[in-house]
Amino acid sequence: MPNPITKAVIPAAGLGTRFLPATKAMPKEMLPVVDKPAIQYVVEEAVAAGLSDVLMITGRNKNALENHFDRVAELEATLEKKGDLAKLQRVNESTDLADIHYVRQGDPKGLGHAVLRARMHVGDEPFAVLLGDDLIDERDPLLSRMIEEQAKRNATVVALLEVDPSQIHLYGAAAVEKTDDDDVVRITGLVEKPPADSAPSNLAIIGRYVLRPEVFDVLEKTEPGKGGEIQLTDALQTLASDDSAGGVYGVVFRGRRYDTGDKIDYIKAIVQLACEREDLGNDLRPWLQEFVGSVRN
Ligand code: UTP
Repeated sequence: MPNPITKAVIPAAGLGTRFLPATKAMPKEMLPVVDKPAIQYVVEEAVAAGLSDVLMITGRNKNALENHFDRVAELEATLEKKGDLAKLQRVNESTDLADIHYVRQGDPKGLGHAVLRARMHVGDEPFAVLLGDDLIDERDPLLSRMIEEQAKRNATVVALLEVDPSQIHLYGAAAVEKTDDDDVVRITGLVEKPPADSAPSNLAIIGRYVLRPEVFDVLEKTEPGKGGEIQLTDALQTLASDDSAGGVYGVVFRGRRYDTGDKIDYIKAIVQLACEREDLGNDLRPWLQEFVGSVRN
């Protein structure tokens, strides 16, 4: 039986160039989605799946990330003095969430390189990777399903999403075979950001992975690939072609996901989540309808 998974690794060291200038002095993972930074949703998701030991891979500007999950004594004292307990609770939510550790990536040489930096902390156990700019709606739990599959198959498990074929060039794409489980496929090959006409399918890898520690040895040997970066997808491709490592399986996700690293998806996520919020939705929905009616193409 494999060890139960306790550790989550959250890479948050990318340059976030699609969001410049907002990300000039701040990691994109700190951009607010309504009133919480994206990264807090991701840590909350890891904790909800039972992973309270979190390692963040950070880059330049890591202070904002560390500060967000730390105490802030003067603010807490001021709110307490005012008796504003609701705001005080909001401030403390991120502090008490998990046991968070940080390691610097150094040069941002790609997602595979970022994951490799987790080796010392993770040791010889399976672990989860959650990308810090990819949000999964808490109403559609994905990670716990992946952890369950990993334990059952003792394999590497990735999350897959069916995307429009015109979008597949933005993702890693998977060649797959069916399994007995309706939402699980066996992955026979992976290609990073393929052109639509040569993609093996329109099943895209999204930012959740449950990996075996063998991935570290593979990453050590993985040469820079697409964009000159060490790609996690290339390491997974190696694992998919080597049965001794247990194979690679995909859990096909059919729930709500928001890519906050992409401008248009980021805006959609804020509008959608705010519309559904009790404190904002009643005001926002009618305004939005009126606004949309007034917009000309
Ligand atoms: P992205 O490719 O979306 O991040 O990586 P990026 O490079 O910051 O984006 P743009 O294109 O310049 O806007 C997916 C995730 O992997 C992390 C990112 O922080 C993000 O959460 N990442 C990427 C690293 O931690 N290190 C890297 O070297 C690259």
